[in-house]
Amino acid sequence: MMPDPAHKQPGGGNRPVRPAALPSEKKVTTWDQMIPPPPITSSLILPQVTDAELQRYADLVYRKTGIRISPQKKTLLSNRLRRRLRETGIASYSEYYDYLTRLPPRHPEWDAFLQEITTHETYLFRDELQWQWFRKKFLAEMASRQRGPAKTLRIWSAACSTGDEAFTAACCIAAELPDLAKWRITILGTDIGVGAVEQARTATFGERAMRLVPDDLKRRFFEKLPNAEVWRAKPILTKMTTFRQHNLMEPLPERPFDLIFLKNVLIYFDMGSKKVVLNNVLKLLQPGGYLVVGAAEGVGDLLSGMTRLQPWLYQKPQESGTRAVAADVSQSRQTFRASLDLKR
Ligand SMILES: C[S@@+](CC[C@H](N)C(=O)[O-])C[C@H]1O[C@@H](n2cnc3c(N)ncnc32)[C@H](O)[C@@H]1O
Repeated sequence: MMPDPAHKQPGGGNRPVRPAALPSEKKVTTWDQMIPPPPITSSLILPQVTDAELQRYADLVYRKTGIRISPQKKTLLSNRLRRRLRETGIASYSEYYDYLTRLPPRHPEWDAFLQEITTHETYLFRDELQWQWFRKKFLAEMASRQRGPAKTLRIWSAACSTGDEAFTAACCIAAELPDLAKWRITILGTDIGVGAVEQARTATFGERAMRLVPDDLKRRFFEKLPNAEVWRAKPILTKMTTFRQHNLMEPLPERPFDLIFLKNVLIYFDMGSKKVVLNNVLKLLQPGGYLVVGAAEGVGDLLSGMTRLQPWLYQKPQESGTRAVAADVSQSRQTFRASLDLKR
């Protein structure tokens, strides 16, 4: 999974957000004790990994994340790795591989490596049709489902990157639920990238990430930071959101959610990894709950137990057989758009 350099990367590029330990260091106990690596010039580093190195790294990334790196990504992988080599002061791809794979799994260099290797492209209100559904159908259905005084809504943005999806959900909820104070809303964002999660916690977004946010919502729920082209979500939104590092290849210890976003991540996975992820994710979906996927995720065949409402929208069957109200399965995409009163 290689990045488009034009796209937003947390921390500026795929730069690591923390210092890394030197390979020669025997013992590192705290961040403060880590010695910044000596600068080495990139001219000392070969421009590309060899085919054998590519294979070793591809296997490593696959084992760690489920992501498949194809041979065509050789240049991009090399570019990404060179940044880690420079940061750690290591002069060759093989030495860095040996260094990395000898580190304990919780060592910060693993975080920096994964942050560098993965693509974090995201922005608010990505895929407009999905957010129209969320605002006009899903929230109304959730409101009608509530029994009793305590109203709850639980949403998981899985592979949330810098939090743009989670804050879009929060923004729509704040705009659409008139009795917001009576709700207990949880929007959990998780991502394998530590830098991405740290960025999400700042609740700040650049102009590019904000470009699709409707003006009225921007004014109501975000504030522009002085002297910066950066917008910060207001407390009404940050109160609903929490962010945590998590690898989708592992189960997430959480209570079930009413809605799970799993977008633009499985495109990079092979069938085996997709199955593992979907197995972990679907266990955490309430009966009657919804799964929103990216249009190119390639998971249709793996979701046969779910009701397909749209190419990007699936519902877990209700135990009690309650009728789905979000959309009629028989509706064509066109009718569905019309039912939301969307502009073409
Ligand atoms: C392209 S972004 C998608 C962000 C957002 N869901 C969206 O659609 O705008 C993909 C994210 O998936 C994350 N990711 C990749 N492999 C992962 C894994 N095994 N577990 C959790 N997150 C992963 C990456 O760190 C990256 O932030």
